[in-house]
Amino acid sequence: MNKEAIIGVIGAGAMGSGIAQVVAMAGHTVVVFDANAAALDKAKASLTATINKLAEKGKITNADEVLSRFTYAADMAAFADCGLIIEAIIENLDIKKKVFADVEAVVSASCILATNTSSLSVTSIAAACKKADRVIGLHFFNPAPLMALVEIIPAVQTDAALVDTCKVLMTAWGKAPVITKDTPGFIVNRVARPFYGEAIRIYEEGIADIPTIDWAMTEIAGFRMGPFTLTDYIGHDVNYIVTETVFQSFFYDPRYKPSFSQKRLLEAGWLGRKTGRGFYNYADGITQPEPTKDVALGNKIAERIIAMLINEAVEALHLNIASAQDLELAMTKGVNYPKGLLQWCDEWGAAKCLSILDGLYNNYHEDRYRASILLRKMAAANKQFI
Ligand SMILES: NC(=O)c1ccc[n+]([C@@H]2O[C@H](COP(=O)([O-])OP(=O)(O)OC[C@H]3O[C@@H](n4cnc5c(N)ncnc54)[C@H](O)[C@@H]3O)[C@@H](O)[C@H]2O)c1
Repeated sequence: MNKEAIIGVIGAGAMGSGIAQVVAMAGHTVVVFDANAAALDKAKASLTATINKLAEKGKITNADEVLSRFTYAADMAAFADCGLIIEAIIENLDIKKKVFADVEAVVSASCILATNTSSLSVTSIAAACKKADRVIGLHFFNPAPLMALVEIIPAVQTDAALVDTCKVLMTAWGKAPVITKDTPGFIVNRVARPFYGEAIRIYEEGIADIPTIDWAMTEIAGFRMGPFTLTDYIGHDVNYIVTETVFQSFFYDPRYKPSFSQKRLLEAGWLGRKTGRGFYNYADGITQPEPTKDVALGNKIAERIIAMLINEAVEALHLNIASAQDLELAMTKGVNYPKGLLQWCDEWGAAKCLSILDGLYNNYHEDRYRASILLRKMAAANKQFI
């Protein structure tokens, strides 16, 4: 697909606006549509301001040209000449299916239809279309102009050639594409679950308090933000719902079980930074609690959470969810992990990771701590992933 191709974006919210910016800056004409006129006006104002700000900062020299590539439409009929449509509306299967059926009626037979869903099955969305083989998942990360990762998700029905077309296009847009199977959470939202879930479990058991776990994961493990600071930042409405959706979609696998601590925050309306309170209290004048900087405890916390994360990555590799290379790229580019989890396993040695997991399993007798068979095989053979 060349730069002459017109790209359509459905939904002008946080993701739709960000994706539209990526598209226009990559040289395409972009048609942005939203069912809500106020959302469309807001997107227009904020995109115009963003492009002008980039010009003021000297990051682009062709602001007027970039701005001329945006068209804002109140009707999907404006998509008639598009070569690719990217949908970024509300995360609701029935509403997405209706939009896909509606958009298919206005576009040409060769137009590719992509969804930016985070947690729904691309296959079920594709099933709403007459020509289901043109539907694919293109999962951008927030904020789309800054985050390089894009997960490409072929549905069961997707024409295999579309994967390559999308990979080439995403690369041309300056993105780092990875290919993943249409399974819950794709790569990032699946593999990252223990970063939150195991941290909360450690807190709930009283092994350490919130600032100490955050300190262990930043200062000792090298993550940019600790799990509690990060979930307060993401918002518990968003983060908890992803956990719950992944848990249900995996037929209630205990590895993905949500926590009551986080559910209660949601029920209380303590959604994190945006409401002034989450795991931490962000009110003016509040002094944040200090961590207990006990290195032995910190190492224990970090090793337990990292072992759980490695196990998820290894299991995803075992189940052919993605290649080893794409798993590494996804976690470093999509959620800025300090290194890829398979590399982390190689540096530790699979035997060390396995012994932490088996230690937890023997202690708790919970399926949550079962080690991947692939990790067991790699440890037995003393082999490296990368
Ligand atoms: N926010 C994130 O961090 C993030 C990251 C990756 C993927 N996603 C996914 O991207 C999608 C959009 O998320 P968001 O955060 O941008 O949401 P948002 O609420 O900011 O924006 C959604 C927009 O879609 C519009 N909309 C709703 N129903 C519509 C319809 N039937 N037709 C046309 N427009 C409609 C709304 O008016 C709104 O402007 C979701 O599927 C979400 O799961 C979100």
